[in-house]
Amino acid sequence: MKDIKYILVCGAGLMGKNIAYVMSTNPNFRVGVYDLFETDVHAGIRTSTKQLVEKGVITEDFLEECLSRISFTTDIDSELVSRADLVIEAVFEDMKIKHETFAKLEARCRPDCLFCTNSSVMSPSEISSELKHRERFVGTHFWNPGHLIPLVEVVKTDATADGVAEKVIEALTSCGKKAVLCKKDVPGFIANRLQHALWREAISIVENGIADADTVDIAIKNSFGLRLPQLSALENSDMVGTQLTWNIHSYVLPHLEDSHEPSPLLKKMLDEGKLGFKSGEGFKKWTPELIDKCNADLNEYLIRMLYGK
Ligand SMILES: NC(=O)c1ccc[n+]([C@@H]2O[C@H](COP(=O)([O-])OP(=O)(O)OC[C@H]3O[C@@H](n4cnc5c(N)ncnc54)[C@H](O)[C@@H]3O)[C@@H](O)[C@H]2O)c1
Repeated sequence: MKDIKYILVCGAGLMGKNIAYVMSTNPNFRVGVYDLFETDVHAGIRTSTKQLVEKGVITEDFLEECLSRISFTTDIDSELVSRADLVIEAVFEDMKIKHETFAKLEARCRPDCLFCTNSSVMSPSEISSELKHRERFVGTHFWNPGHLIPLVEVVKTDATADGVAEKVIEALTSCGKKAVLCKKDVPGFIANRLQHALWREAISIVENGIADADTVDIAIKNSFGLRLPQLSALENSDMVGTQLTWNIHSYVLPHLEDSHEPSPLLKKMLDEGKLGFKSGEGFKKWTPELIDKCNADLNEYLIRMLYGK
């Protein structure tokens, strides 16, 4: 497999811009960004990394060096596309568009160029199903905000060749990401399966009148949520012992939510126009000020947790 130097990020939206920044932090990489539409990728990256500069996590000089390694094109026949050793696709979450995009890329990239999709829910096996060279394809699921959240799930498809996922993990790790292998292409990969198991129970507790939404979030934030970054689920199970875990599960699992459908409460909220931030009300009420504060507080918190700044 060829050494990776030239990266192409396909799709320069919310995720694509931040992924381009992340990949440019390796001084050996050169990053091309392709989008159907003109967009100022450098300005977008400057905006999303503003807090990192202000808090002294990165310097202006470092940011400028990174930006000098990033070039943008709207021309699919550009050298930025044909020279790529590794492509990360971040176009709209639409299977037809993903198929069309990879067909265009396959016609222009080398057959050994590694192909990755950033789709958060769609199967990388299905996205790669129409390619001639499916063996070089994996999912690379970055989390939003892509420049801050360390995890990238690298998902093998039913056709990924040995060594491909490992090579992609090496490239992502060299850019400071915590890249992990998801050995099977399953809906939700690893982290969203875990996250939505929790959300399903949280919604069920509200739906069944056990506690209101505020109380559920207070309970999470002030108990296991607080220690999760230090002591995660399986470490915690070992700490209390697998015998106690077995005993607890024997007693409590029959009572936990196990529906395979979205909650009727969620459907009722949709019908009532309670769409969360979008409409100003979901499980809680949101003014524009509260929404801005919630977003800013999250970024501040992540920077404090990750960089101690
Ligand atoms: N937004 C998130 O929180 C998040 C998190 C993880 C993964 N993802 C995934 O990342 C991908 C991109 O999401 P986003 O939020 O950045 O979307 P976005 O709408 O912000 O950006 C998509 C970009 O793709 C471009 N595009 C569309 N069709 C194209 C084509 N045929 N060729 C080239 N460019 C094209 C658009 O012009 C746009 O700039 C999706 O697959 C999504 O599921 C999103």
